[in-house]
Amino acid sequence: MTQQRVLLIVSGGIAAYKALELVRILRKRGVAVRAVLTESAQQFVTPLSLGVLTEDQVFTHLFDLKDEQEIGHIQLSRQADLVVVAPATANILAKMANGIADDLATTLLLATDKPVLAVPAMNVRMWHHKATQRNLERLHADGVHVMTPDDGAMACGEYGKGRLPEPEAIALEIERLLALPRGADPLAGQPDFASDAQRLSTSLETNGSLQGRHILITAGPTHEPIDPVRYIANRSSGKQGFAIAAAAARAGARVTLVAGPVHLPTPAGVDRVDVETARQMLAAVEAALPADAAIMVAAVADWRTADAADQKLKKDGSGQPAPLALVENPDILATLGRHAQRPALLVGFAAETQQIAAHARAKLAKKGADWIVANDVSGDVMGGDANAVQIVTAAGIESWPSLPKGEVADKLIEKVAHALSALVD
Ligand code: C5P
Repeated sequence: MTQQRVLLIVSGGIAAYKALELVRILRKRGVAVRAVLTESAQQFVTPLSLGVLTEDQVFTHLFDLKDEQEIGHIQLSRQADLVVVAPATANILAKMANGIADDLATTLLLATDKPVLAVPAMNVRMWHHKATQRNLERLHADGVHVMTPDDGAMACGEYGKGRLPEPEAIALEIERLLALPRGADPLAGQPDFASDAQRLSTSLETNGSLQGRHILITAGPTHEPIDPVRYIANRSSGKQGFAIAAAAARAGARVTLVAGPVHLPTPAGVDRVDVETARQMLAAVEAALPADAAIMVAAVADWRTADAADQKLKKDGSGQPAPLALVENPDILATLGRHAQRPALLVGFAAETQQIAAHARAKLAKKGADWIVANDVSGDVMGGDANAVQIVTAAGIESWPSLPKGEVADKLIEKVAHALSALVD
């Protein structure tokens, strides 16, 4: 049985101590871990403690001649099935986003041909800083998997987003990327170079109607920061988009699910990219192209603040309106509608509270979509478990009765499979 191998890069932050617990969990689940410590990480954890837990040599220096001869940094970065950076400081994320290789860790990251998972941890202000957010957008676009940090009290006494997710949550994400269902290794004997998604789909029962297709789905809300502790959001739960992603994977597709901030488990066989803002979502969607079909279910915030504040905004008691200027976000669906790599089938959703069909028809043309799935959100559809939709196409309108979101997903995917076989073949 082939043992899954993780190359764990620990960068310097107060959360580095949690890397020890992460190693312990992974080792217990049969994953081999080889660790690399940056210079500053060694201020927080020692090579000795990591070496004991990994039962392997720990690497710290680029110019260690012996290791260069025997292993070589290129080889080190390629012996793993997955490279994990946890915790990933703002500094190492900036270097990764810009291709800087000035120590062993960053050289390995530039040299690797394996999937990379970054697990950021930093002060809330550093997380919300425009430079960090710009780097995250770039990393998403480069195909790096980035976990969203947790909210909570920070070691520095502040409160907000930036805490390292719990080691158990990181381990689950690692297992998902390694396609290692707990307790079993369904990938034994799989070729080394299969992509994450190809690997994942091998462990699924499929009906095969979307075999060989790549389906790109967005889901959930987006969060647009106002200041380090506040954001603009909406009530989207992500349930419908996640159900569609699950149905597409069951139909044998390779599925990329670009998800806004939601607390939903990743459906089996789905390659998930977590994002927060509309601009990150657009970057992740463009990075996932080409796709045979794109189904844009996310409730993307129409506006973001013109200039998210670096410091918490204070009320001044003057009774004046809040100093909030909003600017329009990019329209992801419309961008795909006129994209050089436009998917053969482009499906949008339209959440309306009145004149549903008329608005949906207008949206078809405006966004360059093939279908608009329109639903009435005046009830409790957002967050609820049932949905009554109308599919608006150039050919007319199809109305479906109110169905559980899972059934809407299955019916929609069946229709997508049918349309693709007519369109693409
Ligand atoms: O214009 P409206 O928000 O009603 O359009 C809804 C459709 O457009 C959905 O498919 C949604 O995912 C997509 N959309 C988008 N980017 C935006 C706004 C909406 O992709 N900025």
